[in-house]
Amino acid sequence: MKFSHAWIEKNPWLLIGLVILVISIGGLVEIVPLFFQKSTTEPIAGLKPYSALRLTGRDIYVREGCYNCHSQMIRPFRAETERYGHYSVAGEFVYDRPFQWGSKRTGPDLARVGARYSDEWHRTHLNNPRDVVPESNMPGYPWLAATALVPADVVPKLRALMRLAVPYTEEEVRQAPAALEGKTEEDALIAYLQGLGTLIKTRN
Ligand code: HEC
Repeated sequence: MKFSHAWIEKNPWLLIGLVILVISIGGLVEIVPLFFQKSTTEPIAGLKPYSALRLTGRDIYVREGCYNCHSQMIRPFRAETERYGHYSVAGEFVYDRPFQWGSKRTGPDLARVGARYSDEWHRTHLNNPRDVVPESNMPGYPWLAATALVPADVVPKLRALMRLAVPYTEEEVRQAPAALEGKTEEDALIAYLQGLGTLIKTRN
């Protein structure tokens, strides 16, 4: 039988093999260059690895599933940049493992929510969102304010990130638990939120 299109279609395993081959080439061509581009691999000016408190807050954000309703990626479209500020750039996320970009927006994007509200606003909002936004359907998280952090827990997290090449120093790891002493889960989550997207600021 001659090697023709019809012949390939009649041989499912060959067809599957060729489809995988073609898709992998397409994928590699799109993905591999990103590993070598400065704009996607280098932190933007001023970006530092998460402090112990913010890192802990980030884990609470993930644990509570905030990403189910909130994305953290402003797309480069006018409607988005007018509402949220400068579009997100890859260099803002180099220490985010895993990133929290998402696409589900039951609530607003949070990529630049840092410094938009006071800590007090966040406390009220996290406790019961309806106290500040009457029509909100966001659930309340009242237990965060009542739950103390366990300071020693942050050390293995920092060590794991160091293995992934996040540049924490031994000194920072040693001092990390002290920074969490006497803080609640709510303190950590708010510290995390207040730093989001603040290095690129385009609104007043
Ligand atoms: C069921 C969906 C849902 C979940 C889960 C959720 N939110 Fe929200 N969130 C919303 C909605 C809707 C709004 C807009 C109304 C409001 O401000 O309450 C909002 C607003 C916000 C705002 C204000 C944003 C702005 O620009 O005004 C912040 C901050 C926020 N959420 C943080 C969180 C955090 C942190 C968590 C996890 C602990 C969380 N949300 C979980 C739906 C959700």
